[in-house]
Amino acid sequence: MRTVGNRGPATLENYDFIEKISHFDRERIPERVVHARGAGAHGYFETYGTAGNDPVSKYTRAKIFQDKGKQTPVFVRFSSVIHGGHSPETLRDPRGFAVKFYTEDGNWDLVGNNLKIFFIRDAIKFPDMVHAFKPDPVTNIQDGERFFDFCSNSPESFHMVTFLYSPWGIPANYRMMQGSGVNTYKWVNQSGEAVLVKYHWEPKQGIKNLTQKEAGEIQASNFNHATQDLYQAIERGDYPEWELLVQLMSDDEHPELDFDPLDDTKLWPEDQFPWLPVGKMVLNRNPEDYFTEVEQAAFGTGVLVDGLDFSDDKMLQGRTFSYSDTQRHRVGANYLQLPINAPKKHVATNQSGGQMQYRLDRAPGQNPHINYEPSTLGGLREAERSGTEYTPLIEGKLVRETIERHNNTKQAGDTYRKFEEWERAELISNLVGDLAPSDKRIQDKMIALAEEADEEYGRRLRDGLAHAFQGGSSQKPLGNKDGDKAPEQAVRKGH
Ligand code: HEM
Repeated sequence: MRTVGNRGPATLENYDFIEKISHFDRERIPERVVHARGAGAHGYFETYGTAGNDPVSKYTRAKIFQDKGKQTPVFVRFSSVIHGGHSPETLRDPRGFAVKFYTEDGNWDLVGNNLKIFFIRDAIKFPDMVHAFKPDPVTNIQDGERFFDFCSNSPESFHMVTFLYSPWGIPANYRMMQGSGVNTYKWVNQSGEAVLVKYHWEPKQGIKNLTQKEAGEIQASNFNHATQDLYQAIERGDYPEWELLVQLMSDDEHPELDFDPLDDTKLWPEDQFPWLPVGKMVLNRNPEDYFTEVEQAAFGTGVLVDGLDFSDDKMLQGRTFSYSDTQRHRVGANYLQLPINAPKKHVATNQSGGQMQYRLDRAPGQNPHINYEPSTLGGLREAERSGTEYTPLIEGKLVRETIERHNNTKQAGDTYRKFEEWERAELISNLVGDLAPSDKRIQDKMIALAEEADEEYGRRLRDGLAHAFQGGSSQKPLGNKDGDKAPEQAVRKGH
């Protein structure tokens, strides 16, 4: 550093010092408002193609799925949801599973989680939900009572709470967990006909989850274990793989079902809507720089390509506004120009200007004076769709109404019964641990939901709470520290 004499003072013409420090002062961008803690990796998706009884050719014209063996580069970011960028990876939390496919038609993002469903079905509740789950605005401590206050008054969350408080709420690592698009999308075929579709990722490594005690033991010595596990597996050439499977349903309201196909708090029963394999994903390259690639990666549910579409799922539409909106704030107006976010195949637009623009998305040979469309002077022309345009008819009154088939607790009961006994025991012990310090009215509402889901579930939760130690502060972080250790777990396959 340049100073007046070796004891200072420093001078303002000290350009190299000022440059270095002022860049350092700006090393952070806002962290994601949710899913701040994450790890990423590059790889490829390989399609199984349209051979045999493959569902693809009939239902979607998306090029990524057509030719057997065709590989498409991907970037994946796994995450936890609630706490900050360096929070422990052992926390009870859904895990994010976001995949960016760099297809020949531009990017497709599949932004999902590991639990296949979600807490709410109305996007306007998302900020409230996140406020309740994040630390208390006064103490800055996460508080189980606030969590259950929201959930007990949002009974649609009970299925997700049942998964979250079981060992499924703490996957052993990122390689051994499922992924799912959760929301319902559409596939569109060559003739412009659509079907409803849900996407699922099945890990070839098997599925493994942790008890609260096991998670606590890992956390005591390592709060980066999932990032480390992913990074080290790829470094040693043990590339993790997932199969992509889809569930399909005709595009209508399906009055014969006891749930609405657009309700993201519900699973589509596998016996009626089988999981059909369409390809596999291999992660084989670690990022060269965490900030450049993982922190600045921007995924969104609106990022679709020809042959893939939205459904009328109103949660999905709410999400779709939120992602690019927050990314313009978090990364900047030209976030799509960063190499991690830009399509690998050149996609041309007339967008220009804004902070940090460093190139234009011009088409080869495009007249540089023509940054508008339509024009006869050599500007861009709108890309043609590869098949018949899909033109759904939408009519109805603007209303503030929920969907009709709520059925909030039935699938939670099914899920409870499908769990193995050690998972049920762990679920009850974790719920009791976090609910015991909560207001009695909140406890009673949660017990009522459990009773509605399954008689045994309700009884065990009621008995557990009746015998729980009620003393101490009402503020308690999520996660009962006294859970039992799991029996030796077989690594599982299956949905
Ligand atoms: C991240 C909003 C529901 C999965 C985010 C971010 C926002 C957001 C603002 C931060 C994005 C960024 O900074 O780049 C919402 C809203 C939702 C919603 C408004 C509901 C209305 C969901 C659901 C899922 C989900 C249902 C699971 C299927 C994710 C994932 C990320 C994320 C995986 C992290 C993406 C990454 O790794 O960068 N969400 N979200 N979100 N969300 Fe959502």
